[in-house]
Amino acid sequence: MSVPFFNLLLAVWFFLAAQQARCLDWTATPFNPPSFPLAVRTPYLSAWLPQGKGIPLNGGWPQFWNGQIVGWAGFIKVDGQAYSYLGDPGVQAPFQKAVQKSSHFTSTQSVFVLSAGPVDVTVTFLSPVEPDDLVKQSFPFSYMAISCYSADGGSHSVQVYSDISGEWVAGNTTLTVNWNTTIQDALTHTVALQDQTEFVEDNDRILQGSAFYSTLNQASGLTYQTGSDVDVRATFINQGKLNNTQDTNFRAIQDNWPVFAYAHDLGTVTSASTNPVVIAVGHVRDPVVHYIVENGELQNRSALFFNQFTQPQDAITSFLQDYNDALSRAQKLDSKVEADASAISSDYAGIVALSIRQALASVEITISKKSDGSFNASDILIFMKEISSDGNTNTVDVIYPSWPALLYLNPLMGKYLLEPLFLYQTTGQYPNKFSVHDIGAHYPIANGHNDGKDEVMPVEESGNMLIMALSYARETGDNSQLQRYQNLLDQWTQFLIEDSLIPTNQISTDDFAGPLPNQTNLAIKGIIGIKAMSEVASILGDSAKSSNYSSIASSFVSQWQDLAASSDGNHLTLAYGNTSSWGLSYNLYADKLLNLNLFPNSVYTMQTQWYKIVANNFGVPLDTRHTYTKSGGVTSDWEVWTASFMTDSSTRDLLISSVHKFASGGTSSQPLTDFYETIDGAPQGFRARPVVGGHLALLALNVTTTATGTDPGSIGSNDPTTKDNSNGGAFAGVPFLSMICLISANLLFL
Ligand SMILES: *[C@@H]1O[C@H](CO)[C@@H](O)[C@H](O)[C@H]1NC(C)=O
Ligand SMILES: *[C@@H]1O[C@H](CO)[C@@H](O)[C@H](O)[C@H]1NC(C)=O
Ligand SMILES: *[C@@H]1O[C@H](CO)[C@@H](O)[C@H](O)[C@H]1NC(C)=O
Ligand SMILES: *[C@@H]1O[C@H](CO)[C@@H](O)[C@H](O)[C@H]1NC(C)=O
Ligand SMILES: *[C@@H]1O[C@H](CO)[C@@H](O)[C@H](O)[C@H]1NC(C)=O
Ligand SMILES: *[C@@H]1O[C@H](CO)[C@@H](O)[C@H](O)[C@H]1NC(C)=O
Ligand SMILES: *[C@@H]1O[C@H](CO)[C@@H](O)[C@H](O)[C@H]1NC(C)=O
Ligand SMILES: *[C@@H]1O[C@H](CO)[C@@H](O)[C@H](O)[C@H]1NC(C)=O
Ligand SMILES: *[C@@H]1O[C@H](CO)[C@@H](O)[C@H](O)[C@H]1NC(C)=O
Repeated sequence: MSVPFFNLLLAVWFFLAAQQARCLDWTATPFNPPSFPLAVRTPYLSAWLPQGKGIPLNGGWPQFWNGQIVGWAGFIKVDGQAYSYLGDPGVQAPFQKAVQKSSHFTSTQSVFVLSAGPVDVTVTFLSPVEPDDLVKQSFPFSYMAISCYSADGGSHSVQVYSDISGEWVAGNTTLTVNWNTTIQDALTHTVALQDQTEFVEDNDRILQGSAFYSTLNQASGLTYQTGSDVDVRATFINQGKLNNTQDTNFRAIQDNWPVFAYAHDLGTVTSASTNPVVIAVGHVRDPVVHYIVENGELQNRSALFFNQFTQPQDAITSFLQDYNDALSRAQKLDSKVEADASAISSDYAGIVALSIRQALASVEITISKKSDGSFNASDILIFMKEISSDGNTNTVDVIYPSWPALLYLNPLMGKYLLEPLFLYQTTGQYPNKFSVHDIGAHYPIANGHNDGKDEVMPVEESGNMLIMALSYARETGDNSQLQRYQNLLDQWTQFLIEDSLIPTNQISTDDFAGPLPNQTNLAIKGIIGIKAMSEVASILGDSAKSSNYSSIASSFVSQWQDLAASSDGNHLTLAYGNTSSWGLSYNLYADKLLNLNLFPNSVYTMQTQWYKIVANNFGVPLDTRHTYTKSGGVTSDWEVWTASFMTDSSTRDLLISSVHKFASGGTSSQPLTDFYETIDGAPQGFRARPVVGGHLALLALNVTTTATGTDPGSIGSNDPTTKDNSNGGAFAGVPFLSMICLISANLLFL
C-alpha cells in the first residue's frame, strides 16, 4: 500500500470518526432506530423513546406512540451523588446526567448502558413476546430491569429510583386521577381516571382502566412514595430513600403532577453485576372489547389472563415472579430470530428485530363469559387495532400484511384473529357478498358493519381471507376453520371469479392511492384467492369443485398475462393497458407462501430485472401514481414482501437494504413507520402499525410445522401448535457492532 493511499484512508477514517462523534456519542447496535420500544405490549401500553438522530435514555421523555408524553423518570445515587438515567425530570435538588455508553435492541428488549460516575448502570426494557403461551401473551405488562456494577473496581454505595406519572392513563392531563398503593407479595401503585368510559378513546388513549407500577416486596431496602413529582424526586435525591407515604389528595394529572415511585437500596456495589431491580409497568382494563354476536348484541370480552387471575394485582405479581424465566424465553426467541434472519443478511436481522414487539402490541387476546359468569375457555378471539391509520378493529388488509409475523411466531394467533371476522359474517348480519373490511370502525368496539358501508375493498379482502385461512391450515394441519366456514369462503370465491380478472374500479389496501380499475396487482390477489379455494376444496374432499376452481384460476392466469405486461414486455403494469405504469407486485408473495406455482417464473424474472432499474436511493416506490407522496413513497411491508420473491439475491438485498437504510437513517423519531419516501427517506403518516409484521415475510416462507391435524382449542402453555423453524444453523447472532452515523451523502450535505 502506497503512503499517499494510506494517508487518504487515514483521512477518511478520521472524517468518519468525527462524523460518528458528531451524531451519536454511544455505540448503537444493531443500529439506532427511529424510536426504541420501551413498554410496548397492547394498543394502550405503548411507551417509546424517540430517537431521530439519537437521544439518550435520559435525554427526553418516553412517549405514547402518538407522541404524548408518558412520564417515566429514573435516578441513581452513587456514593451520595445523584444521576438521572431515565426521562427528563426537572427537580430542585442537585443531580447530574448519567452518560449513555450504548444502546442495543433485540426482538424483545431495548437495553441501555449509562455511566453514573464510577458505576455503570444497565437498564433493560423487556416487552415479552410469548407466542407459545397465550395467557402470558395477554398480560398487558412490561418489565424494566436495572442492574449495575462498579466500573472503576472500587466499592460504591448505590440506590436506584424510578417513578411513573398519571400520563400513563390519559393524554389529557387536565383529567382527574385516583390512585393507591397496595403492599402484598408485590408493592403496587395503581392509578386510574376518576371518570371512566368503557370502550371509548380520546385521541387514541382509552378512557378506561388503570395503570400499574409494581415491584416484588422481597428486597430489603425497598421504599415507596406517592406525591408531587418535584417533592418525591427531591426526597430521593436528598435522602437516597423514600418516605413510605401516600398522597391522598386526588387531583388532575398535571396538578402538582402526582408520581408513583420506588427506591431500591442496593447497598455496596462492586465489579460484579448486581441482581436486577425489576419493576413491572402495565395498563389493565376489563372488559377490553365489545364484540357483536347474534342480533346485533354486543358481548363483553376480557383479556385472556383473567381466566387464570381474578385480580390484576395477582397477574402482575405472577408476572414479576416470572422475570428470570421470561428473560430466558425472550433470549431464546431473540437468538432464534437473529439466527433465522441473519441467514438473509444482518440488515434484515435488524429490521426484523425492531418489528416484532410492534407487530404483536396491536393485538389483545380475549375470552368471553358464559351465562353463569365463568369464563368460556373454548371461546378465545384475538382483536387487533389498526394503529395510527384509522383505528379500525380487525382490518383484514392490516392483518394480511402482518400475517408473516403470526405465521412465523405462532399461526394459532392468526387463526384467533381471523375468527371474529368469520363468526360475524356467519351470523348473516353483514349484507355484502364479498369479505368485510373490518369489524368495527373504532377499536375496541367490534360492532360490525350491518349496513354494509365499511370501507369497501372487495377483491382485496376476499382474496386476503382465503389466502390467510389456507396458509394457517397448511402450516398447522388444523382444517377446522376451513371446514366451519367453507360456505363463506366459497361465497367470496364466487365473487372473485366475477371480479378478479377484470377488477372493477376499486381501492386496494393502498387506499391512500385512491381507486383504479383493472389493477394488475389486485388481479393477482384475486386469482390466487380462487386457486386457494381450489386447495381448500381439495382438503375438504370436494375434488370436483377443486378442479373447477383450479382450471378457472389457470385460465385467468393465462388471460392475465396478456393483459398485465407493458407493451415492451419489460414489466407488469399498474393497470392493464397503461404501459408507462408499474408498481410493486407484492401480491405474488402468496403464490410462494402457499406454494401454488400459479404464476410462471418468467413473471418473477421480469419483475426482478425491472425493480433493479427503477430503484431509488431508499428503495422501489409503491407505484407510478405518486399522488400520495412527493416523489415515490413506499410501504416497507410491501417492499419486503416483494424482496422475498426476487429471483436473484442481489435484488432481494437491494430492497431489504433500502428499508434498513430508512429505518437506520435518522430521518424519523416516530415508532417505526411503514410508509416513507424512496428518494430522501422522509417518513409519511403512519406509525407503530402492526403491518411491520410483514417484515418477517422471508422468515414465514421458510417455516416448517409440527402438524397436529386437529383444532388445538385449549389455551395456555400447552398449545400444541408451536412453530419450529428448520434453519438449524448455529446462532449467528454476533451483534453487528458499529458506531452508526449518517454517512449517506445526501444527508451529510444537509
Ligand atoms: C381535556 O379534558 C377537559 C376536561 O374534560 C376538557 O374540557 C378539554 O376539552 C380536554 N382537552 C382536550 C384537548 O381534549
Ligand atoms: C386501588 O385503585 C384502583 C383504581 O382506582 C381500584 O380499582 C382499586 O379497587 C383500588 N384498591 C384499593 C385497595 O383501594
Ligand atoms: C420525606 O421525609 C423527610 C424527612 O421527614 C421530609 O423532610 C420530606 O419533606 C419528606 N418528603 C415528602 C415529599 O414528603
Ligand atoms: C358489559 O360489562 C358492563 C360492565 O363492565 C356491564 O355494565 C354490561 O351490562 C355488560 N354487558 C353485557 C352484555 O354483559
Ligand atoms: C363457549 O364458546 C364456544 C365457542 O364460541 C361456544 O360454541 C359455546 O356455546 C360457549 N359455551 C357457553 C356455555 O357459552
Ligand atoms: C379493463 O380492461 C379490460 C381488458 O383490457 C377492458 O376491456 C376494459 O375496458 C378495462 N376497463 C376499464 C375501466 O378501463
Ligand atoms: C365452476 O364454478 C363456477 C363458479 O362457481 C360455476 O359457475 C360453474 O358452473 C362451475 N363449473 C362446474 C363444471 O362445476
Ligand atoms: C398511466 O399511468 C400513469 C402513471 O401511473 C398515469 O400518470 C397516467 O395517467 C395513466 N394513463 C392513463 C391513460 O390512465
Ligand atoms: C430456508 O431454509 C433453507 C434450508 O432449511 C436454507 O437453506 C435457506 O437459507 C433458508 N432461507 C431463508 C430465507 O431463511
